[in-house]
Amino acid sequence: MKILTVIGARPQFIKASVVSAAIEKSSNLEEKIIHTGQHFDTNMSNIFFDQLGIPKPHYQLDINSGSHGSMTGRMLEEIEKICLTEQPDRLMVYGDTNSTLAGALAASKLHIPVAHIEAGLRSFNMRMPEEINRILTDQVSDILFCPTDTAVKNLNNEGFANKPVQVLNVGDVMQDSSMFFAERAVKGEALNHVPDTDFIVATLHRAENTDDPVRLKAIVDALNYIHKNILPVILPLHPRTQKVVKSLGLTLEMLVLEPVGYLEMIWLLKHCSAVVSDSGGVQKEAFFFKKPCITMRDQTEWVELIEHGVNVLAGANTQKIIELTQAMLGKVIEDPSNLYGGGQASQNIVNILEKN
Ligand code: UD1
Ligand code: UDP
Repeated sequence: MKILTVIGARPQFIKASVVSAAIEKSSNLEEKIIHTGQHFDTNMSNIFFDQLGIPKPHYQLDINSGSHGSMTGRMLEEIEKICLTEQPDRLMVYGDTNSTLAGALAASKLHIPVAHIEAGLRSFNMRMPEEINRILTDQVSDILFCPTDTAVKNLNNEGFANKPVQVLNVGDVMQDSSMFFAERAVKGEALNHVPDTDFIVATLHRAENTDDPVRLKAIVDALNYIHKNILPVILPLHPRTQKVVKSLGLTLEMLVLEPVGYLEMIWLLKHCSAVVSDSGGVQKEAFFFKKPCITMRDQTEWVELIEHGVNVLAGANTQKIIELTQAMLGKVIEDPSNLYGGGQASQNIVNILEKN
């Protein structure tokens, strides 16, 4: 059975590293990978292929930047051509990026079945481009690999239980990658100036924060304050945010790094005291490495972390980010109910793909 996989953004490379490795071990599955090129800097793309042993993509589209419509449209056109050439049995996409939606749309219009990994997540905020991408992708998928019970419930609430599709909680592939690469985490040269302990790791890239100068300034003020008064803040900075910070002339007083590789990122997560982030994936990784997380968003798709008390929503409110960081430091994190499946998601996915 031939699977055509579409990836293009940093978190998708990390997720694909474990799923593609599991597919490679299957004698029934053959995978061809399309890299849309959405992320393209060396430390946003190649570094993950090199560090994580992801198979070299069969197709490299080099489509990035520009508006949502232009990026998604150009990807749609190119992926459609590849689908026609490759005639895959199934197309597989991850998450909620423009690459995800382009892949799902191209395949579904050609009646190629679509498997969606990380299906069913919802923020219930339609202003987020990710919410639009994931809702539309779910609608055209026929195997919906959910990472949590909440994701299954979300789909049931949208009527998926009555559709001729499979909605399955397979667990979260990011737990697989965190567990697998935890042993291989390295401090590495990129982290030369990072202390060995007692620091906070921060990431910041969401459109709702970077594209709103008021929100962005409030977050920068909070991180600067935390760095000077609570604990040193280490900020590997997404290129999107680097560009906006520069154009707005904001001053970052913490230790700012270029985006780091996954092995360095895991090292930071293992050794930090807390995580302050607006990332989707990093919220869960904080939990996997037993670190409290302060999330600089108004909603999260990972509601079980909030219910569990290990993650708190601070929005883009300076005072709230500071106070919650102070309050969460030292919190003991446990996972008694195995919220994300325990690291078997990739194998579960392969077992199901083999039967379809
Ligand atoms: C995308 C996803 C977001 C995901 C994030 C992961 C969409 C709509 N958004 O956001 O859901 O959380 O990836 O990191 O798909 N850029 C570079 N170099 C790179 C990559 C990007 O300079 O290697 C620049 C682009 O030129 C663009 C900006 O960063 O100006 C934003 O990139 P884009 O891919 O549109 O969105 P992300 O913010 O990365
Ligand atoms: N990550 C990384 N280097 C960095 C920042 C993040 O390897 O400098 C990893 C992080 O550990 C997680 C993934 O990238 O596995 C999350 O990606 P991102 O925050 O860009 O996207 P999101 O999860 O919000 O879609």
